[in-house]
Amino acid sequence: MAVLQLHQVKKSYGSGHKQVDALKETDFLADRGELIAIIGPSGSGKSTFLTIVGGLLSPTSGNVVINGQNLSALNEKARSQIRLKEIGFVLQASNLVPFLSVANQLKLLDKVKKGNMSYAERNQLYDDLDISDLLLKYPSDLSGGQRQRVAIAKALYSNPSIILADEPTASLDSERAYEVMELLRKVTKQKKTTTIVVTHDTRLVDYCDKVYNMTDGVLTEIKTQASVNY
Ligand SMILES: Nc1ncnc2c1ncn2[C@@H]1O[C@H](COP(=O)(O)OP(=O)(O)OP(=O)(O)O)[C@@H](O)[C@H]1O
Ligand SMILES: [Mg+2]
Repeated sequence: MAVLQLHQVKKSYGSGHKQVDALKETDFLADRGELIAIIGPSGSGKSTFLTIVGGLLSPTSGNVVINGQNLSALNEKARSQIRLKEIGFVLQASNLVPFLSVANQLKLLDKVKKGNMSYAERNQLYDDLDISDLLLKYPSDLSGGQRQRVAIAKALYSNPSIILADEPTASLDSERAYEVMELLRKVTKQKKTTTIVVTHDTRLVDYCDKVYNMTDGVLTEIKTQASVNY
């Protein structure tokens, strides 16, 4: 069974002559262990797609099914439980809590959810993202790229089955951007997660199993590569 299914999902903002059809009718499937890229111009509907997939935004019509559960059939409380348990978000605006140190951003998750990374795994994650020296700092003391790496650590720490990342490498230099994509690939393959990355950077698609293009709210698959397991 696919981890993630979209059936005839559409999203329009506004109404009448101001209506914007941000996402045209879309069918989409994703499986465990797949790293998927979505590329496309600004305003084409990429963030709309990702926030609908993650249950943060409701579609105008159609269904989103995560691990067999139809999100539209659930109330907001049940949807937020699924988000907490299954989904790791790296949003375009970093979702760090301003008054918590880097270390406490992750520790906060231990209070609301079981099954997070072990101590050793967490330290490895800090190393992989090169944020071990930043643990006592607050978000306002970090550079954009450092904040972005902390946001990625936070998303991965809770061992989500689905990782949704909106421009996770936008504030990073090329070398760090490649490292982050390598990390996302490693996590996707080792933990058999389903990972969707929105990016402007077409160089990053080489790390991905599938690549989709979004143009004017229409999602089209442009590359499928046999999954490499390592
Ligand atoms: N809350 C909203 N209300 C009205 N229109 C919106 C809203 N959010 C997005 N839109 C419109 O929907 C379309 C798609 O926006 P979206 O944010 O999904 O694009 P995007 O591909 O993520 O762009 P970018 O690469 O700049 O982040 C755009 O025309 C945008 O102006
Ligand atoms: Mg966007």
